[in-house]
Amino acid sequence: MSKSRKKGTPEINPKNIKRVAILTGGGDCPGLNAVIRGFVRCCNKVYGWKVIGIKDGFDGILSEDFVEIATGDTRGLQVLGGTILGTSNRGNPMKYPVEEDGIIVTKDVTPQIVKNLNKHKIDVLVTVGGDGTMKIAEAILKMGFPVIGVPKTIDNDLGATDVTFGYNSAVACATNALDKLHTTAESHHRALVLEVMGRDCGWIALEAGIAGGADVILIPEIPFDMDAVNRHIHDRKKSGSRFCIIAVAEGAFPDGGSKVYKKKPGPDGTPGKLGGIADWVADKISFATEIETRVAVLGHLQRGGAPTTFDRVLATRFGVEAGHLIANGEIGKIVCLKGRAIKSYDIKSAIKELKVVNPDGQTVRTAEALGICMGRANKYDKKD
Ligand code: F6P
Repeated sequence: MSKSRKKGTPEINPKNIKRVAILTGGGDCPGLNAVIRGFVRCCNKVYGWKVIGIKDGFDGILSEDFVEIATGDTRGLQVLGGTILGTSNRGNPMKYPVEEDGIIVTKDVTPQIVKNLNKHKIDVLVTVGGDGTMKIAEAILKMGFPVIGVPKTIDNDLGATDVTFGYNSAVACATNALDKLHTTAESHHRALVLEVMGRDCGWIALEAGIAGGADVILIPEIPFDMDAVNRHIHDRKKSGSRFCIIAVAEGAFPDGGSKVYKKKPGPDGTPGKLGGIADWVADKISFATEIETRVAVLGHLQRGGAPTTFDRVLATRFGVEAGHLIANGEIGKIVCLKGRAIKSYDIKSAIKELKVVNPDGQTVRTAEALGICMGRANKYDKKD
């Protein structure tokens, strides 16, 4: 048994393990299949355990949609985007919608989840997901069922790990889009605004913006001043650059203003759907600078397709390490990358804080040293 086991965490005897299960929860991202492949192969080949795949996240436990995955089923999976198991980012088991007397009410169905896992003789459950999935994993752990976590998200916002897999692929996709927008913006002397994902964090916009040579990068961590942005574009025009590329994170918002939603967050805490800030920014630019402005929203392209080499390797390492953690009895842990090494943390502490961009950190300062406008009013004014 691991010496680092936390009080209250369920214990296992690794020698008695026979069947372990894996599910993917929350939004998909490139690399999920590489995790499944790494995990299945490690469990089969190194430890001789059977691996059960659970379909469509936690929903599959409730509907008992279990299927064995063997090494032979994982051939070539590292290349494949999405998840062969399916996923769901609705239906939180702690507030699960059920019909009672013709009315939909929400119930905590975590006890049913534990019951079904025991019924199918699952010894340990591996949950691959973001902060929402890890909160559910923690609730299952609290009920005494052994769980291990693997962090994923294109947003790169999980505090426990230096990088999540999926992020590198999303940044590559956004960079590629900026490269393409450059040629058309330059040909037509236009401003082109690219809206990228990232929820409340600006990692994708920031790194793709630097890599793709954006002139303006707007992120949620730096509420932006529209006058500063317009003046930057205007100055570029005066100096002979008649086009402009703006990378804007979906969660970015003007100083003193608010985020733009396609669907507002619900009063019961259900998360909203961000989207539309690029249109808002484009309107302001074309009005203030008289530069013809167009918008491109990258959307789910950032989550689709084959993972990059970096993501394939990271996801594979995470999957294999999840197997080793079980073998070491390290229950209640989440795998993570620290520097170049794969480590593990308690799931609980791992989900405590979001990893946001530091507005005064090295990467933002790098962007500003290049002359990229990050939408800061005061910095721009100092130049006058
Ligand atoms: O968290 C990943 C993410 O892609 C965010 O960047 C984005 O805001 C959200 O999910 C989109 O969710 P959905 O697929 O439900 O539209």
